[in-house]
Parts: sequence; structure tokens; C-alpha cells
Amino acid sequence: MTDPRDRTCDTGLRKRAAAVIPGGMYGHQSARPLPPEYPQFMREGRGARVWDADGNQYVDLMCSYGPVVLGHRHPVVDAAARAQAELADCQNGPGPAMVELAELLVATVRHADWAMFAKNGTDATTMCATIARAATGRKRMLVAHGAYHGAAPWCTPRPAGTTQEDRANLGYYTFNDLASARSAVAEAGDDLAAIMVSPFRHDAGFDQELVDPGFAMGLRELCDATGAALILDDVRCGFRLHLGSSWEPIGVDPDLSAWSKAIANGYPLAAVLGNDRFRGGASDVFVTGSFWFSAVAMAAGIATIGALADEGAIEAMERAGGLLRDGIRAQAKSHGLDVNYTGPVQMPYLTFAGDENYALGKLFAAEGIKRGAYIHPRHNWFVSAAMTDDDIAHVLRATDEAFAVVKNG
Ligand SMILES: Cc1ncc(COP(=O)(O)O)c(C=O)c1O
Repeated sequence: MTDPRDRTCDTGLRKRAAAVIPGGMYGHQSARPLPPEYPQFMREGRGARVWDADGNQYVDLMCSYGPVVLGHRHPVVDAAARAQAELADCQNGPGPAMVELAELLVATVRHADWAMFAKNGTDATTMCATIARAATGRKRMLVAHGAYHGAAPWCTPRPAGTTQEDRANLGYYTFNDLASARSAVAEAGDDLAAIMVSPFRHDAGFDQELVDPGFAMGLRELCDATGAALILDDVRCGFRLHLGSSWEPIGVDPDLSAWSKAIANGYPLAAVLGNDRFRGGASDVFVTGSFWFSAVAMAAGIATIGALADEGAIEAMERAGGLLRDGIRAQAKSHGLDVNYTGPVQMPYLTFAGDENYALGKLFAAEGIKRGAYIHPRHNWFVSAAMTDDDIAHVLRATDEAFAVVKNG
């Protein structure tokens, strides 16, 4: 199928960007590693639909890489943000919304006795590490091999511009392998400040792996035995799997947790939540940012958490995600294609068996995007609570034809 979409505007913007933006674009939203059929620039979003700069429409299965959970331009969230914006956003001190949001998070998330706010997930994971070190007076932190915790020098997946010293105090374990965590803890000796972990294994480019509850409990026990902090990086999963920390359903509470992405439905906000054991460390560290106290995103956060509960958003995502998974698996089978569809249904990831260089995944995604399904070949997808049956039917029409192209080469 030739690409039916007009790409004029995107092509022009890419050319202009190449002159004034290093590499033409950077970071996780760079379209450079994606098939050329992907638009780089986006214009608009509403509910589960987005439009690129040329006005081509897509059903959005990336949700801005996670922040949009209730759908784009959610009326209740946007009204709360507008009402706050009419008063003020960035002032000499935070607005009352900060206290209200902290109270709401403490009431919503079981392990939380307090909350602090920032802007991005990297701020939150870095703050968790800093607080753990301040509270314990120790240096070493364990992370899983291949896990993504942000783009600061201590955790960026691309080493350019970083030094070995940036990671000198990190140790590594394998996700879901308690023996490897035990030996990393032993290696850290009496200098272990924290173990950081994501709710499930969602490393980009790999089939996803749900957490073994025994592994989660084992990490909790290791932290209890050593006095280290258990840090849950809920930046990507938070408020998509559960209205509380993502490990509440398996009964494991971290000491500290990092949040961002979905907590304000696309408004820029991150949070660190913690228990009373780490309140002292959290009070001691100096962490701040020019925009960390701005009130609009906090008002949006309050409205988002309210709407997640009022609208049964988690259940809505589970339902939509379940329909999508069943439809896609049935299509792959009917085309005789062997696919892995992994992870929770709200955050699925699709790969083709034996597709070492992502060639089939890229072809599938490119054929999907041409047909108006905004999926991704190397990153988990995100289902929002705004997805209707019509949206799912649209995606499934696109994926069925994309599978046919993959099958026929
Ligand atoms: C698990 C996890 N931690 C941390 C981050 C970093 O968040 P941010 O890009 O907002 O700094 C991300 C972002 O994708 C993430 O998925």
C-alpha cells in the first residue's frame, strides 16, 4: 500500500529542525530510530485520537509515551488546570494545591506518609537515590541489568558525556532473579543504601516480564535485613495498573517510590512518595527546580487522581487492553505468525518470534502507522481510559492488514 498521508508539513519541519536542533531531534521522542513512515511532529490530541503536523489522524497507542492516561484534553483535568492558570502558575511559593495533592497521594498510595514534587521521572528516581543515601549514610544502590530509570549521568543508557565515576556506586542484579540480588547485596556489604526496581520488567526492545511476587517479597526482606531502602520506580506504570503503588496488589510496599508520567494526565509533574522511616532523609536533602512548585500541574494532578477513581479508569484500560490483546493475538494466529504479546494489557509490547533486528516489528509498525494506528516497534504501548470500542476496531483493522503485509513479505 502506498502511503496515503500528506507529509509535507512534517518534511518541512524536519528540514528546519536539522539546522537548529542538534541531530534534528533528541531523546525518546526522536523519530530517527523509527521507520520513515512515522511523523516527527504532532499537532493535536483529543481522547484516544491524535493528529500529526499535517493533520493525519491516528488512534494513539503511545499516549505521549505514558503521560496521557485519561485521554488527551480530558475536560475535568483541563478545566482544573485552566482555573488554576487564571490565578497563577509559577510564583514565589507553591499554591495551596501542593498540600492538597500531597494529602491526596498520601491517602491514595498505601506506603506513602509524605510526598515531594518535581517535574520529570528522572528527577524523582534521582531524588529517591539521594534521600536513601542521606537517610542511611551509605553509598551503594542496586539496579536491574538493562532497567531504565531516566536520563541523568548515573542512569542514562547512552554513555556519551558521562564518566565511570557517575556509576561508581551502582551494583546490578537480574530482574526476577533473587539469587542475583542476594549476591549483589552481599557484595555491597555494609554500604548498601538502596535497591531500585521497576514494577515489572519493561526494558525497551525486550519482551516484557511480569514480576514474580516471591522476588518482590525477597527484595523487601533483603532491604529489611540490611536497613537499605526499597525504591519502586513507578514512573512508567504508576496509576495505569492500580490506583496506588503498582506493587500493592501483590502486597509489597516500597520505602520510597518515584512517579511521573500519568499522575497529571500530561501536565508536567513528578512525585516522590515515602514512608516515615525516610522522612528525615527527605527533609535533609536539598532538591529543587525553578518550576517544581508551579501550581497548574498540581491542580491537574488533583483532578487526574479524582477522575481516575470517578471514571473507573484502571478497569476501563484493562477492558480496552484486553480486547486489543485478544484481537491482535487472534489476528496473528489467523495469519500464521508467531508473536509474543507481553506485559499487562494496559502496557503491552508486541514482537515477532526470531525477529532479531526488529525487521518484522518495524515493518508491522510502519504498516500500522500508515493505516492510522500509532503503535511502536521497540517500546511498550500505552492504552488510555479514553479508548472506545470504535478506536479498538480502528486499530484492529490496521493491525490485520499490517500482519498480512508482514506475512506476505
Ligand atoms: C521506569 C522509568 N523511570 C524513569 C523514567 C524517566 O522519566 P523522565 O523521562 O520523565 O525523566 C522513565 C521514562 O520513560 C521510566 O520509564
